[in-house]
Amino acid sequence: MSIFPLITIAIDGYSSSGKSSMARQLAKTIGYRYIDSGAMYRAVALYAMEHNMINPEGTIDTRSLIAALPEIKIGFRIEDDRQITTLNDRDVESQIRSMAVSNHVSPIAAIPEVRHALVAMQQQMGEQKGIVMDGRDIGTTVFPDAEMKVFVNASPQTRAQRRVAELIEKGIATTYEEVLSNVINRDHIDETRAESPLRKADDALVLDNSTLTIDEQNSWLLERFHEICSNL
Ligand code: CDP
Repeated sequence: MSIFPLITIAIDGYSSSGKSSMARQLAKTIGYRYIDSGAMYRAVALYAMEHNMINPEGTIDTRSLIAALPEIKIGFRIEDDRQITTLNDRDVESQIRSMAVSNHVSPIAAIPEVRHALVAMQQQMGEQKGIVMDGRDIGTTVFPDAEMKVFVNASPQTRAQRRVAELIEKGIATTYEEVLSNVINRDHIDETRAESPLRKADDALVLDNSTLTIDEQNSWLLERFHEICSNL
């Protein structure tokens, strides 16, 4: 239970901008619930891949996926201090971080019916407030009335370097070129899709963390939280 006022915190930004780690750390420090909305889109992409709804050229069987949406149950649980994403009660945390899922997730996330289903789930998760959620459309579509909104960015090269280091640490083989092209491609799809594209909410605080250490960005975020709470 948090000792702080319960507000809604929306953290949006470009792929691999470090928003998930800072969102998770803030939630831990202030005793809020953390939801990684990207993990939910990744879980839907994994479901589509496992049910042969994506052919080798990358074309999605959108009709079958939409029909299957009521059967896709996504959850989160904590294990050994780590948040695990579940797909129909199965731990899929490592699988959803693979490059294969990264390569398919953005076209899946551009399907309006997928977005409507996940946005409804996310809004329900945030009903009681006391939540930090990160993603692409949290401050614009999911929680337009959030008391605290942050938009995070860094150059594509910096973001690709960070993601390569993260994947290598997890034992996932990849190259800088492969990750950079995935980052640029996902940014493009996320920014240009018709349904709630990635964009900064007008009232969001902007953080370019290209030259910040993890500790510096965490302190910046915590200070903004205290400021907002003291002005409530
Ligand atoms: O962590 P990373 O930046 O790689 O991405 P993510 O947060 O795991 O999200 C994966 C993908 O899901 C993004 O590239 C978006 O295409 C999509 N997404 C979205 O459309 N809306 C959200 N609220 C969150 C993610």
